[in-house]
Amino acid sequence: MTIIQANGASIPALGFGTYQLTGSLGTDMVATALNLGYRHIDTARMYENEAEVGKGVMTSGVPREEIFLTTKIWPSDFGHDDFLRSAKQSVKNLGTVPDLLLLHWPSKSIPLDETMAALAEAQQRGLTRFIGVSNFTIPLLRLATELSPIPLVNNQIEYHPYLSQDALLPFHRKLGIATTAHCPSARGKIMDEPVIREIAEAHGMNPIQVGLRWLIQQEGVAAIPRTSSEKNAKSNLKVLDFQLTDEEMRKISALRSTNYRICDFEFSPVWDAAA
Ligand SMILES: NC(=O)c1ccc[n+]([C@@H]2O[C@H](COP(=O)([O-])OP(=O)(O)OC[C@H]3O[C@@H](n4cnc5c(N)ncnc54)[C@H](OP(=O)(O)O)[C@@H]3O)[C@@H](O)[C@H]2O)c1
Repeated sequence: MTIIQANGASIPALGFGTYQLTGSLGTDMVATALNLGYRHIDTARMYENEAEVGKGVMTSGVPREEIFLTTKIWPSDFGHDDFLRSAKQSVKNLGTVPDLLLLHWPSKSIPLDETMAALAEAQQRGLTRFIGVSNFTIPLLRLATELSPIPLVNNQIEYHPYLSQDALLPFHRKLGIATTAHCPSARGKIMDEPVIREIAEAHGMNPIQVGLRWLIQQEGVAAIPRTSSEKNAKSNLKVLDFQLTDEEMRKISALRSTNYRICDFEFSPVWDAAA
């Protein structure tokens, strides 16, 4: 497994997303993924499955210290006291201290200095090993790093072959933080992409494997595909077994001008312009 080093954290480049994997499906898929070889699991308070994810981690039989577990706090809990209460609840739900605690989205109403102080305090109180953010733009990330008394290790952002993150990625590398790509297959949309299909055929792979490979072959980028099927979880792991040529990487990168963004809401920040 490729490991990304980010300000002291060692993050496996291929992870497993759990959005919408609730109830026993969440527990079963997390345990299945870990038994297949995944060592990085992503959840959030908002997914309402932390307890099931934690149960999957425990019942998998994989030693806890081999697993990199991420959760995220929702912006409605970004006030100092709410934040620490929420972080404590996450530990309780998961049944274990997460490796990484993220701010799920930037908040438009709660000042970032208050939240960054609470995030650092959560780490100092042993409620997480590392801290980071999600869906932060360059100006917000700059401010977050300035305000944080301890280094951030990650910005989890939407990233797939249909969306450029050319402006943000060099900034992440400059800060020494990892990029985690959410919606890495554009929720399955890349399956039908002719350019990716052609490359996939040349490698005897499917388009989702090629899209995931394109992500993790970039410096400092991790991907967290979600699937509700053991077959697809196994198939997605094969991205670790092949490489794309520079020309293939370029052809896929050219698709980013599509500028297709899935997670764009009224509470989203003003996104960075493509570089
Ligand atoms: N920070 C944030 O704001 C944020 C936002 C969105 C997501 N996330 C995180 O990122 C993770 C991934 O994003 P996502 O779940 O939204 O989207 P995604 O991983 O891009 O797409 C999930 C979809 O892809 C399909 N799929 C996966 N592997 C496949 C394969 N080999 N063949 C065919 N179809 C396949 C799944 O269907 P099947 O179930 O049928 O396989 C599912 O419908 C989430 O689960 C969550 O942990 C974070």
